Amino acid sequence: MNTEMNIWNVKFEDIIYNSSGPECTTLAHLNALWASSSSAIMIKSCSPEPRDGNPTPRYVETDLGSINSMWLPNLWYKEYIGYIPKLKQDYKKPVVCSIVGFKPQDFYDLVTAFQQDSDVDMLEVNLSCPNVVGKPQIAYDFEASEEIIKNICAIPGDKPIGLKLPPYFDPIHVDAMANIILKYDIDFVTCINSVGNTLIIDPETEQPLIKPKGWLGWLGWDYIKPIALANVRWFYKRIWHKTKIIGCGGIKNGVDVFEHLLAWASIVQLGTILAKEGPGCFARISREFQEYMDKKWYTSLDEIIGNLKEL
Ligand SMILES: Cc1cc2nc3c(=O)[nH]c(=O)nc-3n(C[C@H](O)[C@H](O)[C@H](O)COP(=O)(O)O)c2cc1C
Repeated sequence: MNTEMNIWNVKFEDIIYNSSGPECTTLAHLNALWASSSSAIMIKSCSPEPRDGNPTPRYVETDLGSINSMWLPNLWYKEYIGYIPKLKQDYKKPVVCSIVGFKPQDFYDLVTAFQQDSDVDMLEVNLSCPNVVGKPQIAYDFEASEEIIKNICAIPGDKPIGLKLPPYFDPIHVDAMANIILKYDIDFVTCINSVGNTLIIDPETEQPLIKPKGWLGWLGWDYIKPIALANVRWFYKRIWHKTKIIGCGGIKNGVDVFEHLLAWASIVQLGTILAKEGPGCFARISREFQEYMDKKWYTSLDEIIGNLKEL
C-alpha cells in the first residue's frame, strides 16, 4: 500500500515518524533519525535558552511504558536552526521542530525565528508547558492559549504550524480548544502529549520511580493509548474540515498505527518505543502496518483514515 502522506504540501514518504522528546535532543540523535526509516526528523521542544532539565532519575521505563519528568532539556533553538541545513543537505525527509516557551513572548520570538530564518519544513508548538504560577499548563488555560495562538498565527511565513496538545479528559475542554483552533490558521494538531501528574511506586523498594517534582511524572505508551485515541477522535469531530490531526500516544506496533488512523489521525508519531527499541522501530512498525493492511485487504490510506465503524 502506498503510505505517502502530504500535510499541507510537506511530503512524508511514510506515515510514521518520531515525536518530540525521546532521542531527538542531541545532534547525534538527529543524525540517527536522518539515517533511520522515520519519515521525518522531529526535533526536541526547544526554548529561548539551553536547558539541562531536571535532576535524575527523571525517565524510567516499565513494562507498560514510561514515566518522565525531564523539564525540557534541549540545546536551544539557535543550535537547531543552525543544524537544520546539515540535516537537509542530502535531502531525505522533512524536518519538523517543536518549540516551547515560558511566557507568551517566547512563543512569538521562536515562531518568528523559525518562520523567517530557518529551513524547517513544519513547526509544532508545544502548549503542554507551565504558564504563570497559580495557573494550569498553557493548553488548559484557554485564555492564555488563545493569546499565544492569535499572535503566532499573525507571524508572516509559509511553514505549516501546529499545536502539540495535552490530553483532555472532558469534552467541554475539547470544545474550548477546538473553538480557538477554528478561529485561527492552525494547520495541524498533535494529540497527545504525555499524561501528566502521575505516580508509579515500586513495591520492592517502596519508592517512587522518579525523583523530580514530588516524584510525579508524565506517562507514555500502553498506559495512555485509549486516552490518545479518544483525543484524536474528539478533535476529529470538531476540526476535521480545517485541520489535520497527528496521532501520538501508545504506539508500539503496526496495529496501534491502524487504530490511530481509524480514529482519524493522518500520520502518527512514536515516543517511548523509540527510547525502548532505538531507531529500528520505524522500519519494524511500518512493515507490521503494511502486513496488517494486506491481511485486511486494504489498498489505500483513504479507506482507513477516520473510518472507525459504527457500533
Ligand atoms: C522522555 C520524554 C520526553 C518528552 N519530551 C517532550 C517534549 O520535549 N515535547 C513534547 O511535545 N513532548 C514530549 N514528550 C511527549 C512525547 O512526545 C509523546 O507525546 C508521549 O510520550 C506519548 O507518546 P508515546 O506513548 O509514544 O510515548 C516526551 C516524552 C518522553 C517519554
